[in-house]
Amino acid sequence: MKIFLDTANLKDIKQAQDMGILDGVTTNPTLISKEQKSFKELVKEICAIVKGPVSAEVVGKTAGEMVKEAEGLVKIAKNIVVKIPMTAEGLKTANSLSSRGIKTNVTLCFSALQAILAAKAGATYMSVFVGRLDDAGHVGMDVVRQIKQIYLNYKFSTEIIVASIRHPLHVVETALSGADIATIPYAVFEKMFKHPLTEDGIEIFLKDWAKVKG
Ligand code: G3P
Repeated sequence: MKIFLDTANLKDIKQAQDMGILDGVTTNPTLISKEQKSFKELVKEICAIVKGPVSAEVVGKTAGEMVKEAEGLVKIAKNIVVKIPMTAEGLKTANSLSSRGIKTNVTLCFSALQAILAAKAGATYMSVFVGRLDDAGHVGMDVVRQIKQIYLNYKFSTEIIVASIRHPLHVVETALSGADIATIPYAVFEKMFKHPLTEDGIEIFLKDWAKVKG
């Protein structure tokens, strides 16, 4: 399973990059709005830190508008992935961009049906939002497992990004499901390497080390 960070925060991205575990980054308009930089400048800086794919989202409503935005985005860096909403116009955009070799991430997917369409339109990645599904009273991970089985059945090459991850158990379940990527908010990422027994263990070792002569 690849680990992406779901953030536009440069400090958090650098931290994960320095640990050598960062396979990519996903952003969205909400995450971009939290940072005090222009969209293009920020995305350019993220792409300079991260070697892997960096998703940047279009905000146009028609395929024509989205394709135009995408053409601007791919000029920013080689590792840009154009993030497109799961709508009829979005699917037209994904189809058009993928036929030109531009990488796409069809986002805001909430069902296996949408995931089938994203794959058939040629999306490089399909993002399914588990946390928001849980919020709406569904079992988000059940949808992920359905999509994984369907993609296996038909050998779709579209990679599954599990997004809207809210807690560490979502990460474990993503790994168990066989989905390709977990895109993780930094607050959840931090919880992955912290364990009280590790911290207790370090304290005990340091206390005993102080007793060692010479
Ligand atoms: O990047 C999209 C997704 O991860 C958003 O998560 O927590 O706003 O549902 P959330």
